[in-house]
Amino acid sequence: MVAIRMPAIAGNAAIGQRVFEVSCASCHGANAVGVEGAGPPLIHKIYEPSHHADEAFHRAVSQGVRSHHWQFGDMPPVEGLTRGDVAMVIAYIREIQRANGKN
Ligand code: HEC
Repeated sequence: MVAIRMPAIAGNAAIGQRVFEVSCASCHGANAVGVEGAGPPLIHKIYEPSHHADEAFHRAVSQGVRSHHWQFGDMPPVEGLTRGDVAMVIAYIREIQRANGKN
């Protein structure tokens, strides 16, 4: 888990927050700070836009991720989300990343 500063979340990012809480937070934690033993923080310099562009997020959700950065194991594909849903999740994560100097 990482300590973060939480910005105000509105608009598409707020819709993304709700999707994230249902589909991602069990592994990536509330506000993407990570979960001990389950999944990494996405508010991390590894995942800032210059390292993981938005397309990497779309690919992670649709195809899953073979573990390569951490020791949490693979991420399975997440079922039932449209590209539009994922775009809102990305908007949400980018807001928090920006508020924490991860650009
Ligand atoms: C079952 C647990 C689990 C769920 C649910 C999950 N993830 Fe992950 N995710 C992981 C793990 C573990 C990794 C790290 C893999 C590694 O070691 O690089 C990861 C990595 C990622 C990455 C990095 C991909 C890359 O190219 O390195 C992104 C982006 C991501 N997750 C986004 C999401 C989003 C968005 C959701 C919800 C729609 C989500 N994850 C749901 C476990 C999960």
